[in-house]
Amino acid sequence: MESKCVHCKTMKILTIFGTRPEAIKLAPLIKELQKQKAVTSRVCVTAQHREMLDQVLQLFKIKCDWDLDLMRKDQSLFDITARALQSLERVLKEERPDIVLVQGDTTTAFVASLAAYYLKIKIGHVEAGLRTADKFNPFPEEINRRLADVLADLWFAPTEKAKENLLQEGFPPGRIFVTGNTVIDALFLILRQESRAKNQLVLSDFGLSTDDSRLILVTGHRRESFGKGFEQICYGLKKIAERNNDIQIVYPVHLNPHVRDPVHRILGDVANIHLIEPLDYARFAFLMSQCYLILTDSGGIQEEAPALGKPVLVMRDKTERPEAIEAGTAKLVGTNSERIFLESQKLLDDHIKYKQMARRANPFGDGRAAKRIVGILLGEDEAKE
Ligand code: UD1
Ligand code: UDP
Repeated sequence: MESKCVHCKTMKILTIFGTRPEAIKLAPLIKELQKQKAVTSRVCVTAQHREMLDQVLQLFKIKCDWDLDLMRKDQSLFDITARALQSLERVLKEERPDIVLVQGDTTTAFVASLAAYYLKIKIGHVEAGLRTADKFNPFPEEINRRLADVLADLWFAPTEKAKENLLQEGFPPGRIFVTGNTVIDALFLILRQESRAKNQLVLSDFGLSTDDSRLILVTGHRRESFGKGFEQICYGLKKIAERNNDIQIVYPVHLNPHVRDPVHRILGDVANIHLIEPLDYARFAFLMSQCYLILTDSGGIQEEAPALGKPVLVMRDKTERPEAIEAGTAKLVGTNSERIFLESQKLLDDHIKYKQMARRANPFGDGRAAKRIVGILLGEDEAKE
């Protein structure tokens, strides 16, 4: 393996990502890497996502050295996997970084790890060690993150539980670091930076104000729920809205057509359900901070909500983030419409139950994960000399 960038005598780190959540979670790390004199930080986006990725790049002012512009409408797993692998060969051969950083469990994270391995380039996996132990739940993320972990050389585990998972699978203890999740860094950064007044526009856009205390925020996009699962989620939301005309449901709808079709078909005409386009992270974080309750299948939102003291009903059968469930701020409710309705109704009707869940907790980090990761990377570099 290469030790130093021959031209600049600094450690060359290439961060590769492709989707909205990876961009949000890597933004604090890229910012931190840019501050280091001993590091040459380079950024490559596969653009597995396009509009939803660009929202994050603009917000955090991330300049990309490579933009592979891979997204196609309704791309298959085969498409994105094959095209990403093929395109990354050239990037890695030209860049020859000392280390590649990948994040999480997307196809980009797995494929970038595989491409780096083929060229014997060291790999750091951010958010390593998350597991449900069910290969189809979430699909294909459970296998993507396992494969990324198998290929990695350094594992940045967000929690002790994630570290334990890695240890159980036989990864070397001295190379696993518990850092916290960088999503908490991103959340704190954006809530500090963005002015409240500007973000309030998002509420007035659809005739709401922060006085609307009972706002339910919804997101959903998991592949394993496509079809019947998504229809069930929509029928559950419809029933909540129809039985509680004093509440408002705000749903920024993911751009995947397998999500948009059932959501617009089933919920398009419900008066107190607002289907809106994906929000930029600043506005979305503001909405999270203002809402009463969150219903989601998102990974990142399960991590952010406890930091904001917002209860989350997780519309999935399994989660790789048991920490929020154990902290009592999140509950798994699956995708059955009646269950989604009943669990939501409990939290709308029972104030004590609601208060028990609406506690602030930080099981996923303290906002300093990126600094820790950079410290570890620099330590690695010194150890080599
Ligand atoms: C991907 C990740 C998933 C992650 C999610 C975050 C994989 C296989 N899936 O799922 O792990 O949780 O992102 O949101 O890596 N689209 C657009 N514009 C965009 C983004 C998506 O139009 O900016 C549409 C396109 O039609 C695209 C489709 O959504 O083909 C699917 O995108 P893709 O990245 O393959 O899957 P996601 O469901 O977004
Ligand atoms: N998010 C956003 N705008 C939205 C919806 C979500 O910025 O309209 C953020 C959210 O706060 C979280 C991330 O996007 O940080 C989660 O993305 P997603 O649910 O698409 O992916 P996952 O986390 O499930 O991989």
